[in-house]
Amino acid sequence: MKLPKDLENILEGMECILDDEGKSKAQVTKYYDSNIVYYLKIEQVNSEVEREIGLYQWLKDKLPIPTIVYQAIVKDISYILMEKVKGEMLESVHYKNNPELLVRLAAEGIKKLQSVDISDCIYDSRIDSKLLKTRKFIDDGVASSIDESIYTEGMSTVEDVYKYLVEHKPKEELVFTHGDYCFNNYFTDGMDITGYIDMGRGGVGDKYQDIALCVRKLSDYDSKYIDLLFELLEMEPDYEKIKYYILLDELF
Ligand SMILES: Nc1ncnc2c1ncn2[C@@H]1O[C@H](COP(=O)(O)OP(=O)(O)O)[C@@H](O)[C@H]1O
Ligand SMILES: [Mg+2]
Repeated sequence: MKLPKDLENILEGMECILDDEGKSKAQVTKYYDSNIVYYLKIEQVNSEVEREIGLYQWLKDKLPIPTIVYQAIVKDISYILMEKVKGEMLESVHYKNNPELLVRLAAEGIKKLQSVDISDCIYDSRIDSKLLKTRKFIDDGVASSIDESIYTEGMSTVEDVYKYLVEHKPKEELVFTHGDYCFNNYFTDGMDITGYIDMGRGGVGDKYQDIALCVRKLSDYDSKYIDLLFELLEMEPDYEKIKYYILLDELF
């Protein structure tokens, strides 16, 4: 792929390898030499790309996020070149094989996100704005089927899920949310969270947005780890809200 000239100049002489960790349509490539490691994210412009770029600005000095080295939109294609964030992603084998540490770090990551002052955050991730997006995804055929799970019992189509979401809107408790709180989207040094990436769904939303996706990930493990998560968050689990936010994510 032909890169913008300025970007090509920055990357000249570096080795590169395609990264297949992410599940989105973005093409992510790791560039490295003996001094530095960069990640280049290329994708067709969409609302999540614009949000990701804006949030990397807004979150500077608020959360550990990658340093942006170059960013441009050329002919509807977005290029974001960032430094590698510090640490290792929670998805890595070391943490996956050590669920207690994984949960402690995941809880720490949620607390850090929820401690961000949202008073001047312009990015809306509340239910109504998400439902507007999901309606469009359904109408445009972007969301066309659902993955069956314990949460989709009695539902078989995207319209069934949409109807449930419209009819069961919970009261929101607003905090800063990552929006795609999966183990491959945040990093650690084993003690603390050292970086959050993939911020295209970030913004002001309900406390359970990130907690629910974390619970979904932890369902691969013994249920005692979900209990531990809530103990660390000092909350009683609200399973209706967990179900709601997992179903909302089904349509993204
Ligand atoms: N700044 C970064 N530092 C470290 N790893 C990164 C960085 N950006 C991307 N990656 C790697 O590339 C993967 C995909 O990038 P991501 O922005 O999450 O794209 P997607 O939207 O496809 O999930 C990540 O899971 C991670 O492994
Ligand atoms: Mg990702």
